[in-house]
Amino acid sequence: MIEVVARTPTAEEYRSIREAVGWKVPRPDDCDRALGSTIDAAVAERGGEAVGMGRTVGDGVFYSFVVDLVVRPEHQGLGLGSRLLAVLVQAAALRSTTGLLQLVAEGHLGRFYERNGFSRDSFGLYSMRLRPAFAG
Ligand SMILES: CC(C)(COP(=O)(O)OP(=O)(O)OC[C@H]1O[C@@H](n2cnc3c(N)ncnc32)[C@H](O)[C@@H]1OP(=O)(O)O)[C@@H](O)C(=O)NCCC(=O)NCCS
Repeated sequence: MIEVVARTPTAEEYRSIREAVGWKVPRPDDCDRALGSTIDAAVAERGGEAVGMGRTVGDGVFYSFVVDLVVRPEHQGLGLGSRLLAVLVQAAALRSTTGLLQLVAEGHLGRFYERNGFSRDSFGLYSMRLRPAFAG
């Protein structure tokens, strides 16, 4: 069984998951600094191993951006990316006063993000109106 938990990945997990999809692997100390600025995060765990992750960065009140949404290739297509995203959306909805969660993604992932409630604007920015929107 794979659990999705609300926590920030460790630098080691972060580097390992990025490496698994061929993304650049930053230095451990840079990862520590970057991860320390995380607003919300989620990790997919299978038997103690982190197999996926996602983070929200920004100020969490006016501006919130999803970054580093990654699932290890052998666990893709099983709904984990959507589950990780759902945790981030839920957390952002509690914090945001603008009611907006945004991200940048390559065009081929449009269907994935649209299926998960995001809409793409003409600049290629994906946005989701959170509930409740505009708390004040
Ligand atoms: C994008 C990603 C996080 C989705 O995770 P996932 O666990 O596979 O997502 P889900 O199982 O919830 O949804 C799967 C859907 O995502 C879409 N999708 C996933 N990877 C895709 C790809 N490489 N190209 C196009 N669509 C893709 C498909 O629509 C797929 O639906 P299908 O299985 O019916 O074809 C994962 O594919 C990944 O880690 N990719 C590499 C890193 C990356 O590009 N991250 C996004 C940065 S913006």
